[in-house]
Amino acid sequence: MTIAKHISEILSKSSWIRKMFEEGTFLKAEHGAEKVFDFSLGNPNLEPPPEFKTALQRAVLTAGTGEHGYMPNAGYVHVRQALADYLSVEQQRPVTAKEVIMTCGAAGALNVILKAILDPGDEIISPVPGFVEYAFYAGNHNGILKTVPTRPDFTLDLDAVSAAITPKTKAVLINSPNNPTGQIYSEESLKDLGKILNGKANRSDRIIYLISDEPYRKIVFDGIKVPSIFNCYAESIIASSYSKDISIPGERIGFLAVNPAAAFKEDLLSGMALANRILGFVNAPALMQRVVASIQGASVDVSAYVRKRDLLCDGLSDCGYEFVKPPGAFYLFPKTPIPDDVRFVQALQEELILTVPGSGFGGPGYFRIAFCVDDNTIINALPGFRRVMQKYK
Ligand SMILES: Cc1ncc(COP(=O)(O)O)c(C=O)c1O
Repeated sequence: MTIAKHISEILSKSSWIRKMFEEGTFLKAEHGAEKVFDFSLGNPNLEPPPEFKTALQRAVLTAGTGEHGYMPNAGYVHVRQALADYLSVEQQRPVTAKEVIMTCGAAGALNVILKAILDPGDEIISPVPGFVEYAFYAGNHNGILKTVPTRPDFTLDLDAVSAAITPKTKAVLINSPNNPTGQIYSEESLKDLGKILNGKANRSDRIIYLISDEPYRKIVFDGIKVPSIFNCYAESIIASSYSKDISIPGERIGFLAVNPAAAFKEDLLSGMALANRILGFVNAPALMQRVVASIQGASVDVSAYVRKRDLLCDGLSDCGYEFVKPPGAFYLFPKTPIPDDVRFVQALQEELILTVPGSGFGGPGYFRIAFCVDDNTIINALPGFRRVMQKYK
């Protein structure tokens, strides 16, 4: 054996996901990519907005001496200032450049946060269905991810969170709008969560952080707004990115922001800037920092995702699928008509439809459809979705 045991274990645990991915590649080679309906990945298909391309050109043309060099690990001060000004409006409270760190995507932000706060054996509580990678991120920093169920409509089950808190709980990690369900947590539920965390922490004289992973914040539908986490709980930290809202996940640019009201924010921020360095990120990409600084608030045309969501929801509901209509993100998480979601996803694959079993997200009996695809992929896949449903109904 040449690789570490735990890496080997992760590889074998996720092997069926890889198998699906590989089979998808074979199917595309065999039938032609246009005949395969690939809903498996959350890779946004919309082009970045025009202001991104303009800002990118400007950043390249105007780069001065040394502007491709190292900088403070937390990022350029003027970029953090631009983001802090934006967050002050979004979060409805003054945020300063010092409270913001530029990172390599939301994934980088989460790893930096966990590296800075976890001691070996510390627990992170996270609701499921949820993002597959969280358990690996916690493990990266010797922490343990403890999952708790959500309610049937995928909103927060606060009793479940409360019951899961132990003396080892260091943080609760939430993701809203959620991958894979698209659900958004209400302000009321987040404030109640804040009260629970305060109550538990006061009793044991420690802090339980609330980490809010929100890369889909701007991808919301039907006039719904994602509440400000800073307004709900003082010990909160935002992890986010530009990956989904301006369709640049390959550019690896994101950020974290610590609530200005957090008790030990200086320690936290110093620890996180150090973590950015010693995890090997060093700093977020210089060029991309300069680009996003000038286009704060930009987003793809979200109405395109509304159209795709509605095409998919109307079509699938007509075929007899049951689901919660997602108020945000670009995922649908329908029930499978049989308990074995892996088998159901394989049946869809026989119709050249690629989706992901809910088990992979801690949601067995469901499957995930990423609808960040061409409208025609949705329209042309519907007959296949119907045939598979008819087979099992
Ligand atoms: C919930 C969630 N968090 C974090 C990430 C990672 O985002 P980034 O590409 O910005 O690192 C993703 C990507 O799919 C995600 O869905």
